[in-house]
Amino acid sequence: MSGGKCVVLKGFGGYEMLNTEERPDPKITLSNEVKVQVHACGVNFADIYQRQGMLVDMPKPPVVLGLECSGVVECVGNEVLSLKKGDKVMCYSSKGGLYSEKVVLPAEKCFLMPSSMTFEEGAAFLINYLTAYFTLFDIGNLQRGQTVFVHAIAGGVGCAVTQLSKSMPEITVLGTASDGKALAARANGADTVLSYSSFHEELNTRHPKGVDIFIDNLSGAEFIKSLVHIRGLGKLIHIGANSVITGEKRNFMALVRAFWGLKNVSILQLVNNNQAVCGFHLANLWETDQLRVTNTVEKLCRLYEDGVLKPQIDTTWHFNEVTTAMQRIGRRDNIGKVVITPE
Ligand SMILES: NC(=O)c1ccc[n+]([C@@H]2O[C@H](COP(=O)([O-])OP(=O)(O)OC[C@H]3O[C@@H](n4cnc5c(N)ncnc54)[C@H](OP(=O)(O)O)[C@@H]3O)[C@@H](O)[C@H]2O)c1
Repeated sequence: MSGGKCVVLKGFGGYEMLNTEERPDPKITLSNEVKVQVHACGVNFADIYQRQGMLVDMPKPPVVLGLECSGVVECVGNEVLSLKKGDKVMCYSSKGGLYSEKVVLPAEKCFLMPSSMTFEEGAAFLINYLTAYFTLFDIGNLQRGQTVFVHAIAGGVGCAVTQLSKSMPEITVLGTASDGKALAARANGADTVLSYSSFHEELNTRHPKGVDIFIDNLSGAEFIKSLVHIRGLGKLIHIGANSVITGEKRNFMALVRAFWGLKNVSILQLVNNNQAVCGFHLANLWETDQLRVTNTVEKLCRLYEDGVLKPQIDTTWHFNEVTTAMQRIGRRDNIGKVVITPE
């Protein structure tokens, strides 16, 4: 439940569908709920899909956007023992609603922030690092000495993939980015940054036997083409569909192309080449295996405290500037996470 100043999606479409409005203060109604005064919110690529009307299982507009935020616990329901008033928390909601000054949500979706973590970092942590962790370690089974490739290596998930990969010995990380982002991606730990126009040729030259983990967040025709870059016993892991975003409004043909590109995987080809094709969807995992998510958040917080992980913040904007904030991502300008704040 959302209240106070909120970022609202009025209807599906372009940036003109984003609005800020005041809503009544939300109240705790269930004993397992927590009320949070929000300080920062993480902007995600999924916000673009939602605004354009591509996410069928999300609530329909008018709706408050926002999948993750950080803030301070204001009060808790009778049954909540894990959190108390004054705790600094980071929160997740698969159905949105967190771009609000005040939110009420189940305690299991709120996690204590490490004491040295800023609110901006807290807002940039859960989705990117959980996605990167499950993809690399639970699905990818990343091992010492292996090679990881990820598209949008300078973006939110890309930065997290790079840092988590580099937490293992002798891992090579490479990926694509738009012009002007290579320096930042390398400073974050990437070994090589390739351009979208030549990455197939570059990968063939640099890694003729292929890479061990190829994280596909482009989808469409690129998905199936990427199989040539998977070495024996390697994995192509589909996590996103950046290619469906071609402008401010929904591109139906790009959507069809993305679905079509996923249909053409030949099991026989996978058997012959000892390859695996996998997928990952954080929201669905969260719904089906809360305990696994909670345990992984604890591991990630320890890695943050040990200095292994450091969320990269691109820019921070006020709720009133939400259009500019979302344009940073939609226009491919961001390096790391874009954050918005109600303050
Ligand atoms: N499966 C899951 O559970 C899950 C969870 C979180 C995120 N994801 C996916 O992971 C990907 C990254 O998400 P994120 O939130 O971290 O976003 P992000 O990478 O910060 O996204 C923005 C970047 O994507 C790149 N990009 C590539 N093609 C683009 C296009 N057609 N339009 C706009 N940007 C494009 C741009 O960087 P360059 O041009 O420099 O590459 C842009 O700066 C997305 O595909 C998202 O759906 C999946």
